[in-house]
Amino acid sequence: MANSMGITGYDYVEFYVGSAKMAAYWHVNALGMNLTGYCGSETGIKDRVSYYLTQNNLKFVITSFVKPSTHKISHFVSSHGGGVKRWAVNVDNVEDSFTKAVTNGAIPVSVPEKLEDEHGYVEEAALQIYDDTELMLVNNKHYNGLFRPGFQKYQGDIEWHHKNPGLQSIDHIVGNVRQNEMNRWVDYFNKTMDFETSLSFGPGDISTKYSALLSTVVQTKDGIIKNPINEPYEGIKISQIEEYVREYEGTGIQHIALATEDIIASVRSLRYNGIEFLEIPDAYYDKLTQQNAALPEDQKIMEDIEELREFGVLCDLEGKGYLLQLFTKPIGDRPTFFFEVIERKRGAQGFGQGNFQALFDSIEREQARRGNLDRN
Ligand code: FE2
Repeated sequence: MANSMGITGYDYVEFYVGSAKMAAYWHVNALGMNLTGYCGSETGIKDRVSYYLTQNNLKFVITSFVKPSTHKISHFVSSHGGGVKRWAVNVDNVEDSFTKAVTNGAIPVSVPEKLEDEHGYVEEAALQIYDDTELMLVNNKHYNGLFRPGFQKYQGDIEWHHKNPGLQSIDHIVGNVRQNEMNRWVDYFNKTMDFETSLSFGPGDISTKYSALLSTVVQTKDGIIKNPINEPYEGIKISQIEEYVREYEGTGIQHIALATEDIIASVRSLRYNGIEFLEIPDAYYDKLTQQNAALPEDQKIMEDIEELREFGVLCDLEGKGYLLQLFTKPIGDRPTFFFEVIERKRGAQGFGQGNFQALFDSIEREQARRGNLDRN
């Protein structure tokens, strides 16, 4: 079923950081992005710098402030420590989508606007999501420049070295909110943007020995955009979602899942490039080997389980299909935003429910190392 907002897919994600050049260097040399464009004083933009990075269908913008120190980007960075400021979707008609969403209760951040240069024009508008994040509605069908007005090819002379991980596109973007806020945001996406709830994990579904969380997945009715929302739930110790909200100083984007068509090759390159992933205990793979042995031939895992073990890739069996995934450690200074790498096999639709225990045990071990698991 088509979505009535006219959303056709993800466009780009913009991060606000303390030093765009250094963060761009990490995204290029570790995550394997290409340095495609640049916007800054050389292109007529004086107050900020942005690097436009691409890889297959992935588009990231890494932005930092230059001056003045009271700039809204510096406010974002000083309170959140860097993170996702906005994620953009392509829509057929920005004005229509914006009006529909706002009429149904969406919070407007910027009204529809036309950005023009000699390559055409881009139309965009922004809606608020979570505390300080924006969902952008973008129509760039009438623009044939590099990315959008203000951006030019990067003119630097830095030589970039990395192994290409072959990351393809955004699979899903996840938000973290405070206790008792999840249903409010579920309603917000469903009522104002015509999303629908596709999965919901209640009390007891996602918990470790010590802590717990609630999670609901809202998505466009055609499934193009999948947006899980997590909320902390009471446990003996501090939920990883509570740690996020505390350390991020607010609610926002927890992780972006990047789809690949060959997760072993991708993770081999990403590890070579220096990306750190969560550690998965050996016992997980002993159990997976046993589970796989019991499956009928047409449902078996096609990958070598010893390779999954070597690279720390998790596997969730899901009917005839299965899902391969792993999480990086937080990429910045605070234990907040991280990336997931994901490969869906034979039509798997889930989010790795069967891996929650192993993943969250692993996150808790990291949380304990930071001294953020115990309540006192
Ligand atoms: Fe995920």
